[in-house]
Order: sequence, then structure tokens, then C-alpha cells
Amino acid sequence: MLVSARVRILAACAILTCMGQLLIPARAAATEDAVRNSLARKDCKRGTFKDYYLQGQGGDPPSDYKGRVYKLSQDYPTELPPKEAYPWLKIAFKNGGPVDPDAYLRALLEYGLEGNVAVDFYVEDNKTRKWYGAPWMDWNTEVASDWPGTDGREFIHGLTHEFDSAGNTFGEKQSDFVDTWAQAYVNDRYAFAIGQVFCDPDDPKPGALNPDPTGLNSMPDGAFVIKLLFSTVTEAELPTVKGALEWDADIYINKSPRFRNAGPLSRYERRIDKVRLIQIDLQVRDERSPTGWLLGTYGYDGNAKGETPWARMTPLGLQWGNNPKVTFAETCRGPNGPCDYDKLTEQWINRQAVKDLATPPLSFNHLGFGGRLAGPVDNPKSSCMGCHQTAGFPMVPILAEFAANGAVLGLDAEKHPETAQSLRMAYFGNVPGGAVFSDTQLYSTDYSLQLAMGLQNFASLRCAKAASEPRPSLCDQLANWSRLQQKAISAIQVFGTPGNGGAPIHPQ
Ligand code: HEC
Repeated sequence: MLVSARVRILAACAILTCMGQLLIPARAAATEDAVRNSLARKDCKRGTFKDYYLQGQGGDPPSDYKGRVYKLSQDYPTELPPKEAYPWLKIAFKNGGPVDPDAYLRALLEYGLEGNVAVDFYVEDNKTRKWYGAPWMDWNTEVASDWPGTDGREFIHGLTHEFDSAGNTFGEKQSDFVDTWAQAYVNDRYAFAIGQVFCDPDDPKPGALNPDPTGLNSMPDGAFVIKLLFSTVTEAELPTVKGALEWDADIYINKSPRFRNAGPLSRYERRIDKVRLIQIDLQVRDERSPTGWLLGTYGYDGNAKGETPWARMTPLGLQWGNNPKVTFAETCRGPNGPCDYDKLTEQWINRQAVKDLATPPLSFNHLGFGGRLAGPVDNPKSSCMGCHQTAGFPMVPILAEFAANGAVLGLDAEKHPETAQSLRMAYFGNVPGGAVFSDTQLYSTDYSLQLAMGLQNFASLRCAKAASEPRPSLCDQLANWSRLQQKAISAIQVFGTPGNGGAPIHPQ
């Protein structure tokens, strides 16, 4: 009753005055659909984002390539599509998490695959429901930070380059680097939120993720992502990759990041080669979770039962919180374990699968930090929710190791993950989705690292001096942010130092 009454009121009058008079006192929890919808911009410009790296600038398929070319599904809806009877909603919650996490994770996978497998994840052709991709991943700088843009989407399936795994990460037969290439697909409610941020593609507004400025800057309930992670690893290097789904992709000829990073740019040359699906990540906004999100993962096991490569994906775990108070020393006996998962109550781990993965010839011997969930191709010093809770604009280091204060403190996760917990544990907090992780960030991107990265990629091309006119407002915000951050940091060094006449020195 209340909801429908509000819809009618909103439809009947000027929205902002209504908000002020009627809605603010009454609303307690997350912003409702009707409010998001009423405040959403409808005049959005669509179809301008590039599809793949250097499209139209030398990155196009060679003339003898006859296959399908990736197109970004970017017709983001301006009306918030209604929630469906999602299969995961049937599973009850207790103490912040699902009572049957295994079933919950299976429900996520089922939804993510439905209609997408049949169209080989060219998701704009999905006959069941619409799916979309995130903008500005064509020019992506994630791993190859010295070579801007080079991690960007390739032209066959739109995969971006991610983490490279050094020899022996997967198993004893893997002696060289193998590279990860991945792509994420989002449902209509997630796409609505992206579409509000990029309503004007030349002037993104990260604060419009939730069109209601009085709410957390969050995605709507039911926002969902499925991410497919492929590796260049072969069956000879990793026996359990046999029978994995294989795709062609236009990827680096040189597999070693050490070689590539030494430059020149030509070391990033690409060629069509095979990649194999070894991990599937899933992420869903479910208001029943204490953080607002659940993140789960599957690993491929060629020895598992199942008729298709999809059916042989094995659930590894699901996380809905980081257990922010549980330190490394409480769960693991040493840097390489063994770890005891019992204290990590905000996740579920498939213990048999984890044991199998660590049994020779396999050596996926890691989960994440202190036994928290992370996938085989993720960084073992972190966890799914640890990295994702940092998502915002500007981006901040996603790991304590990458942070300036981590460097000053000399953090060494390989040898001493149990020390310096006052900084480390910040990376294993439970940030409420829609609030920022750090006071150096302007906007939360609500656990979406692709959105955070897309905005950063946008800034890297559009905010450079002498770049596009008119200048995007985000660029001015970023410039002010940078100036004031520097000033604040300089002030710390002289704070309280008396200058002439005893007054404190103020940095310029
Ligand atoms: C070391 C940090 C790190 C860890 C650990 C990590 N991720 Fe991510 N994840 C990222 C980054 C960075 C991106 C964005 C870049 C991309 O997708 O290429 C991302 C993207 C994603 C996406 C696409 C949507 C989005 O939010 O951008 C999903 C889904 C996802 N990760 C799920 C997971 C799951 C599930 C786990 C744990 C099994 C996990 N991630 C662990 C860093 C991490």
C-alpha cells in the first residue's frame, strides 16, 4: 500500500519538493525503486562507447578475420526494470548469510548462464533477458600500469587482460607465466545504475549511481554480475583444464609481464590464440547481506562429473562479509597455512574442493587472506570482498601492499601476513555498499571495480591537459581533489610548527 501510494504521489508532483516534504521523514532503509525511477535522468545519450582496444585506431580485426566481432551491449535502460522472482531469493537468511550457501551459489550461476550460454555470451542476443557490459574497459589500465590502455578489451569477446600467474601458481607442470583474460556481464538493474552514471557519456556523474542524493550511492537490490575468467594455461601445464570451454581471443603474444613491462609498447602486440574458462565469479546485491552484497566463485575441474564444461564448474565458496575482527594469527598458523576456517562466519567454503585443488599435481594452494575467499586466479593476499569494498572514485589501492602506508611500514604478506594488522584489517572491513572505503574518495561505486576503473580510464584520457572541450566536471573535481590532498599531506609535516610571530606555518 505504502509503496503504491508513494508512486502515485511522486507521479503527481514536482519530484524534489515531494521528496523534501513527504519522503525523507518516512524512509528508513534503502532507496525504493519508485524513488530511484522518479529521480533518474531519462534524457541519456547512448551508443557512444568504444567496443574494444584501439577501435578505429589500428586495433581492428585483420582483414582475414571472418569471425564475430565484439560489440558492447550499452543500451542501458533509463527506467529501472522491475525485480524478478530471482532464484536466490527463495533461500532464507540467518545471522546475515544464506542458510544454504551452496544452493544460493548454484542459484546465482543458473541465473547468470540462462540464455547466455546458447548465444556464446554475445549477451545482446540473449532471448530470456537483457544483459549489458561496463563502459570504458576498451582503454583499460589495470595490470600494465606503465603502458596506458593496453589491458583493454580484445575484439572477439571483449575480454580484458588481468592478473598474470607466475610459474607454479596452478601446478607443478606450469613453469611459465599464464595470463588471465576476463569479461563481466551485468543484468538490467545493474545496467540502469551504470546508465545513470554515464547518462552524459562526456560528463559522467559517479554520484548518480543512486539517483536519490539522500540515499547511499548504491545499486538497486537485485543488481547482478557474472564474470568469466579465462586463462592461457594449457592441459599440459594444468591437467584439470581438459575439456574446458575454449574461446579464441586476440591476446598478447608475449606471456611474461616482466618482459612486456620492460617495453617498448610493441611488446604488447596481440594475436588470436586460445583461452580456456577456468573461473566464474558471481556478484549480487541482496539487501539481506550486512554489506549489501554476496560474492561467490566457481573453479573448473575437468575431472568433475557433467556433460558440458559449464556443468563441470565446481563451487568454491561464497562471501557476504570479511569478518573484520578476525586477524590472520587467529585463523592461520603460518604464511602458508594451515588455516582454520571456523572463525570466518561471513563466508562459506567448499572444503572438499579446496582440498582437491591443493593436491598434487595441482597447487592452487591458496584462498585469500587468512583463509577468506579468493579465487585461484586472484591475489592470495586479499579476498573477494576485501578488494571490492574499496571500489570508488578516485580508486585507492585495493591491497594494503599496494598502499603508500603499506610501503612505509614494509608490509610483507609472503613472510609476515600476521603483522601490522591495524592497517591490514582496514582491507578486510565490511564497508556498507554505497559508502566510501576511504576518506580520500569522493564517491562509492558500490563494490563495482569495473565502474571504478571505467571512471578512472575515462579520466586518464579526458582529463589530461589540452584534452577534450568542454572539460568534464569530473576532471575539475579530480584536480581539486589532488590539490587539496597534497595540501593536507604537506600540512601534516608542519602542523603546529611555529613560524614568524609564533603562528603556525601553513603550506601553500
Ligand atoms: C586482488 C583484488 C581482487 C580480488 C581478490 C577479487 N577481485 Fe573481483 N575484481 C577486481 C578488479 C580490479 C575488478 C575490475 C576489473 C575487471 O573486471 O577486469 C574486478 C571485477 C570483478 C567483477 C566484475 C564486476 C565488478 O565489480 O567490477 C566481479 C563479478 C568480480 N570481480 C567478482 C569477484 C569474486 C567473486 C572474487 C572472489 C572469488 C573476486 N572478484 C576477487 C579485483 C579483485
